[in-house]
Amino acid sequence: MTTENSLRKRDSSKKSWAEPWKVKMVEPTRWTTRQYRAERIQEAGFNTFLLKSEDVYIDLLTDSGTSAMSDYQWAGLMLGDEAYAGSRNFYHLEANIQKFYGYKYIVPTHQGRGAEHLVSQIYIKKGDVVPGNMYFTTTRIHQELAGGSFEDVIVDEAHDPQSERPFKGDVDLGKLEDLIKGVGRDRIPYVSLAATVNMAGGQPVSMQNVRELRALCDGYGVPVLLDATRAIENAYFIQQREEGYRDKKVADILLEFCSYTHGSWMSAKKDSLVNIGGWLALNDWNKFEEARNLVVVYEGLHTYGGLAGRDMEAMARGIEESVDDGHIRARVGQVEYLGGKLLDWEVPIVLPIGGHAVFLDAKRFYPHIPQDRFPAQTLAAQIYIEAGVRTMERGILSAGRDPETGRHRYPKLELVRVAIPRRVYTQAHMDVTAEAIEEVFWNRDRAKGLKLVYEPKYLRFFQARLEPV
Ligand code: F0G
Repeated sequence: MTTENSLRKRDSSKKSWAEPWKVKMVEPTRWTTRQYRAERIQEAGFNTFLLKSEDVYIDLLTDSGTSAMSDYQWAGLMLGDEAYAGSRNFYHLEANIQKFYGYKYIVPTHQGRGAEHLVSQIYIKKGDVVPGNMYFTTTRIHQELAGGSFEDVIVDEAHDPQSERPFKGDVDLGKLEDLIKGVGRDRIPYVSLAATVNMAGGQPVSMQNVRELRALCDGYGVPVLLDATRAIENAYFIQQREEGYRDKKVADILLEFCSYTHGSWMSAKKDSLVNIGGWLALNDWNKFEEARNLVVVYEGLHTYGGLAGRDMEAMARGIEESVDDGHIRARVGQVEYLGGKLLDWEVPIVLPIGGHAVFLDAKRFYPHIPQDRFPAQTLAAQIYIEAGVRTMERGILSAGRDPETGRHRYPKLELVRVAIPRRVYTQAHMDVTAEAIEEVFWNRDRAKGLKLVYEPKYLRFFQARLEPV
């Protein structure tokens, strides 16, 4: 071998990897002009939720219900048993939740918030306090509507976008115990634990933390209920980051994680690779009976819960695919690819890079825009104008108002979430996205912020309208 040849040898430590699937069907997208997009975002009240999907080029609004199903899932749709009662697809779904998540009793719901509604109505009474590792928008509103209030007991580092703690989703057990002692055990209906904390930037909870949490809660007789929406991404981070889990399969890690909790609610629109679906799973028979009774009031019979049989089949099959190590590595790997590019270009993002999304730190992006002028909302609008890339605000607008004082809640994190649907976009889409964000970053001084002109009562971020100040 000549010296010249050896110089040209690729650095084998930088090995590429590819997704464990190939594309079978495509959906065309449309590129538009900057002028067109500027008009559309104005029409949409500078709210990316109010844009029409056909006006979006790369849709990174959410990873919820936007994933691509496999041929195995699509084939399952044809096997939908649309009986009103006792559909065989329900039993397949039930068996797979029992097998992969380990819970005993299952109630299907149309999506995650259907299950959040049931669990909140069943467990919470007026005046209760629900501790959790950072709020989630729909989770908290159901806790409030049931008469409770949410209390954040996540570790402090979760509120610091630059902290590189590997498990920023962990519960601060000291804060939790102080709260239980302070308000009294009787007013704590359960601990609301979320796996890969969405609002913190897709940050995981360690196995050690959930194990210790369970031990602490057992001491007080408080149940631990899990928001399992992205628990598989959480299991992957445990495999990658926690001592003793490197050689375990994600499926086994998931089972162990769930075993420390008493039950769980799920938006299957994320991890489970379906466009619609959810469930509530409980190990307590009496609570399950209440859930099974309540579901017929709000969702549908307890063997369909607002879903078609075919949707339950797609979900049952999606669960099987979602725990595959190759799948989850590629899924999170794509998020890391996008985040890595932005980091290289010194765009301020939340560290470590999350499981389902890259989160832009709008406070550092736009230090000149005060929080009550909606810096993250402004940034999401600018990214859309730049390249037709749709993202979502996760800051002051999402945090809403305190129900008692009516004032804005001022979250420490003022973020734009760039969420990646599973198995949908290519590396080239990530490149275009990164370049668009970088361009907006270079023009950051021009942004001035927004003001609210219309604000709905619940979950205002979905339908609020704003205009430039
Ligand atoms: N829990 C978490 C952690 C979620 O991220 C979501 C939804 C839900 C519960 C509610 O589930 O939408 O099926 O009713 N998150 C979506 C998102 C909206 O974009 O992150 P759902």
